[in-house]
Amino acid sequence: MGYERMSDANWHITTLSADNQRMIEQAAGLLVEGFRTFAPNAWPNMSIALEEVHSMLGSDRVCLAAIDAQGTILGWIGGIRQYEGFVWELHPLIVAEKQRGKGIGTALVQALEQEVRLRGGITLWVGTDDEDDRTSLAGVDLYPDVLDALKQIRNLRRHPYEFYEKLGFVIVGVMPDANGCGKPDIYMAKRVCGEQRKQT
Ligand SMILES: CC(C)(COP(=O)(O)OP(=O)(O)OC[C@H]1O[C@@H](n2cnc3c(N)ncnc32)[C@H](O)[C@@H]1OP(=O)(O)O)[C@@H](O)C(=O)NCCC(=O)NCCS
Repeated sequence: MGYERMSDANWHITTLSADNQRMIEQAAGLLVEGFRTFAPNAWPNMSIALEEVHSMLGSDRVCLAAIDAQGTILGWIGGIRQYEGFVWELHPLIVAEKQRGKGIGTALVQALEQEVRLRGGITLWVGTDDEDDRTSLAGVDLYPDVLDALKQIRNLRRHPYEFYEKLGFVIVGVMPDANGCGKPDIYMAKRVCGEQRKQT
């Protein structure tokens, strides 16, 4: 099954291939550029970013890219098989800064959902860090009532958790201090298999 439904006149979604060195380098470059301002430790240089891209090309992973007519990568997404394949982690997701707001992020997530569903996965989840005070969960001590803080979450400066909410993900947890004191990782998940499976 292709990704025609998720594509646009100017770009389409395809699998990132291990033998396309040019695209692999572009994908790594997007990680370094895209996360520099708000998560500078994530992929601080090309060599670490290239390692990440290569690791995403393994057989138990999914790696998809949105590509324009010239073969330039506009964004890409990865999926990692976990929990015997019942659960997949969305990691990473990046859209080039100039290409944001055109539906590319949405299309990449939907294409990954399709891939996870085809592989028998039930759940897609993502950890979305807040390293620069973009939500009400950052810069505060979340203990002792972590769940209450989660219920009261507010988006202060366009943290992507709302992007995921628009795609049907819900907040399922948070790791306080995941990236240092007051810098949590917000966990979100979505059931992608359509209906709840009966227990046997
Ligand atoms: C988050 C990101 C992938 C979104 O990609 P995109 O192509 O711009 O998203 P889309 O155009 O598909 O947006 C879909 C909807 O989400 C909204 N949205 C996108 N980014 C958002 C954000 N940061 N905060 C709140 N809403 C957001 C859009 O406004 C749009 O809403 P609408 O349907 O009501 O118009 C992109 O901004 C990005 O690469 N950011 C930097 C890296 C990052 O944060 N990755 C995720 C780490 S977990």
